Amino acid sequence: MHWGLRLREAQLDDCELFFEWVNDLEVRKNALNSKNIYWNEHKSWFEKAMSSLSSVKLFVGIDENDEAVGQIRFEKDGVKAVIDISVDSRFRQQGLGKQLLEQGIKRIEEFWQDVSFIEAVVKIGNASSQRLFEAGGFKKSPDKNANGFHRFALKLRR
Ligand SMILES: CC(C)(COP(=O)(O)OP(=O)(O)OC[C@H]1O[C@@H](n2cnc3c(N)ncnc32)[C@H](O)[C@@H]1OP(=O)(O)O)[C@@H](O)C(=O)NCCC(=O)NCCS
Repeated sequence: MHWGLRLREAQLDDCELFFEWVNDLEVRKNALNSKNIYWNEHKSWFEKAMSSLSSVKLFVGIDENDEAVGQIRFEKDGVKAVIDISVDSRFRQQGLGKQLLEQGIKRIEEFWQDVSFIEAVVKIGNASSQRLFEAGGFKKSPDKNANGFHRFALKLRR
C-alpha cells in the first residue's frame, strides 16, 4: 500500500513519460480512440496542452519513493472539467488511482473556481475505472450510453 502520493504539475520534459503512458495497452483499449499514437502526434498534442494552461491541467503522481506512478488530466469546457486518469501498469491495484483522483479534484477545485462538475467517460466493461469513479462519489449518467461509453459525473460542493 502506498501512503504518500503527491501531485506535481506536468512540465515540458514529461513529454516522453506521457508518451509511454498513453500507448499502454489498457489505456489504448479504454480510450475513445483506441489506435496507437505516434510520437509526432503526441508531441504536438502535449506541447499544445502545456501552453493551454487556462483550459488544460496535467499532473503527475509521485509516490513515497519519488517514482512517477501515473497522471491525471482535466480539460475545462465551460463549467465542466473532463477527466483523464491512468496509473502506470506496474503500480495498478494498489490504491494509487484513488489517491490521484482525490488529490486531482482538490487541485481543480482550487484552480477553477467556476467549475461545478467533473465528468469521466468510461468504456463499458472497464471495471477498474468504473469502480474508481463510483468509489470517488461519481454518479453514472442516466443518459443512453453512446458508442459503448458511460458518462460519470461528480458535482462539486461549492
Ligand atoms: C483505472 C485505473 C486508473 C485505476 O487505478 P488503480 O490504481 O489500479 O486503482 P485503485 O487501486 O486506486 O483502485 C480503485 C478501485 O478500483 C478497483 N479496481 C482496481 N483494479 C480493478 C480491476 N482490475 N477490476 C475491478 N476493480 C478494480 C479497486 O478495488 C478500487 O475499488 P474499491 O475501492 O471498491 O476497492 C487504472 O486501472 C488504469 O490506469 N487503467 C488504464 C487506463 C484507464 O482505463 N483509465 C480510465 C479512463 S476513463
